[in-house]
Amino acid sequence: MTAKQPIVEMRNIVKRFGSVEALSGVSMTVRKGEVLGLLGDNGAGKSTLVKTLAGVHDPDQGDIIVRGQKVSPWTPMAARDAGIETVFQDRALAPQHSIVTNIFMGREITNGLGLLKVQEQIDEANRLMREIGFTSKVFNPESTVGHLSGGERQGVAIARALYNKADVIVLDEPTTALSLTETQKVFRFVEAVKDSGRTVVFIGHNIYHVWDIADRFFVIDRGRTAFEGEKAQFTGADHLIQLMHQLAETGKADTTSLRPVVDAVA
Ligand SMILES: Nc1ncnc2c1ncn2[C@@H]1O[C@H](COP(=O)(O)OP(=O)(O)OP(=O)(O)O)[C@@H](O)[C@H]1O
Ligand SMILES: [Mg+2]
Repeated sequence: MTAKQPIVEMRNIVKRFGSVEALSGVSMTVRKGEVLGLLGDNGAGKSTLVKTLAGVHDPDQGDIIVRGQKVSPWTPMAARDAGIETVFQDRALAPQHSIVTNIFMGREITNGLGLLKVQEQIDEANRLMREIGFTSKVFNPESTVGHLSGGERQGVAIARALYNKADVIVLDEPTTALSLTETQKVFRFVEAVKDSGRTVVFIGHNIYHVWDIADRFFVIDRGRTAFEGEKAQFTGADHLIQLMHQLAETGKADTTSLRPVVDAVA
């Protein structure tokens, strides 16, 4: 296994909401070309961590380092400039509108007079949908999003994220409300994004699902890093689950059972 190059490093991030400390010094690195599975109980701070990664929250303390350079202030625009696109848990697709309208909403392709370049948008939407492996013959860019299944809607949200040439796509619980078939559609979209050399940060509740899709795992607990590890460091999904159970029961996971990282960063 070759060490992957860091794209974004979040160092000692602290984020408070009034008296609630949602993040108490979390350090998480996102590497090029990986699917990073972010796990943790309800309220552990996963959404707060990815909202911070997206620049929605400027951390109270800590640094964000993009490709080796500290970026401050850290804003949604700075995150977008860094190639980070997020599909939020409370995401907003407009179901009454078409796929193409949803992909380009707020960043339409226009000509010099500000008129929509309709055909160009349709062609680009077709390209993006093919890129993530959207294979349905029933749907085309002009289909209404409200007619799509849950997994396909996630596909539209991913296509929308890709449109901005994102290097890192963050998906906050994209499969929580979905059936197994629909979840598998989302997995195929994630695989396609990974195969294109991009990075995906994937938050999920179902540990087996996250196990299947991720290369590396980062577990937070009550605003702190509990443990992290590459897939190859675990004997299997049950090993990861065992550590998560231990964490829930005792507040601490004993990671001495993790295999050492092979071929660590030189
Ligand atoms: N905007 C906010 N204002 C106040 N408190 C917040 C805000 N956002 C998050 N919190 C608090 O921060 C803590 C972490 O919440 P967060 O949404 O990050 O958890 P999570 O791991 O995403 O949980 P879930 O699995 O339920 O989505 C919780 O105690 C939550 O109530
Ligand atoms: Mg959340």
